[in-house]
Amino acid sequence: MPKNIKRKQRIEKGGVGEIYFQADKYGIQIVRDDFITTKMIPDSSVDLIVTSPPYNVDIHYNSHKDNITFSEYLDFTRQWLKKAYEVAKDDGRICLNIPLDKNKGGQQSVYSDILQIAKECRWKYHSTIVWNEGNISRRTAWGSYMSASAPYVIAPVELITVLYKKQWKKQNRGESDIKKEEFIAWTNGLWTFAGESKKRVGHPAPFPTELPRRCIKLFSYVNDLILDPFLGSGTTLIACGQENRRGIGVEIDEEYCELAKKRIISEVSSHPWRQTDILLSRASQNVLLATPDGASNAEPAPWLDFSDRT
Ligand SMILES: C[S@@+](CC[C@H](N)C(=O)[O-])C[C@H]1O[C@@H](n2cnc3c(N)ncnc32)[C@H](O)[C@@H]1O
Repeated sequence: MPKNIKRKQRIEKGGVGEIYFQADKYGIQIVRDDFITTKMIPDSSVDLIVTSPPYNVDIHYNSHKDNITFSEYLDFTRQWLKKAYEVAKDDGRICLNIPLDKNKGGQQSVYSDILQIAKECRWKYHSTIVWNEGNISRRTAWGSYMSASAPYVIAPVELITVLYKKQWKKQNRGESDIKKEEFIAWTNGLWTFAGESKKRVGHPAPFPTELPRRCIKLFSYVNDLILDPFLGSGTTLIACGQENRRGIGVEIDEEYCELAKKRIISEVSSHPWRQTDILLSRASQNVLLATPDGASNAEPAPWLDFSDRT
């Protein structure tokens, strides 16, 4: 697509958003807008936010500039976390998928910095889940190999930080649909499952459906309202549709809105997890806890430099 058309499609700050797609049957909506300024989500309306924000690691998104200065990035983070706080209910929660560190373009403690900002925006800390996506195999960046001169230490994990607005215990009773085996396995905060393939999905930084699926089943009731302010390829809304939650996804880029729409239509209507449920009644319960896609999708995290720089 020519660059000038892409530019026209951008919704600049303060622009008016639109409902890009709505699936009434599933209570799912894609909003095309800038999350920081959107007026499309009422204050105090969201039960659970599940998201992976841009990490500022020079990923080539269509409409978002992912190579701003670190201080500009922290400012962007402050703005969207403040907005997220406004739209969350008092017992609303956020599951924030972020890297621990980045070493591309200079070492930064991304997790620690974002958590600090979240607390400044009045989010309260609950816990942090470590997601082991098992991408260590391609690692070759050692710094000073076999020498104490300047070695690099890189943890091949991502984190899912869990925070809440005012109170952790949910105010109203609702229906929990998590199975005993899932609850026991997922309340152990070390999660191991493969990452998603950019090529397969057609987006530069998708997370696997397993990530929002676990967050949704563990931290929300059936029919709760889930929000992903950085929808990307629509993964969080796919999990909402498959797990009987209402969902709103905000995405600034029109092409990604279209991609999300197509993925939701195809993946929600085929209900893969419900098929797993059917399998479960016939086979061993371990089927559900197995890695959904195997380990074959693992790709090096783009914010960690695994290549040899020596
Ligand atoms: C890390 S990706 C999210 C990927 C998503 N979790 C998935 O599985 O596809 C971040 C997304 O945020 C979008 N984005 C960046 N700034 C935004 C903003 N201010 N408002 C809404 N979306 C934005 C980018 O276009 C990109 O698609």
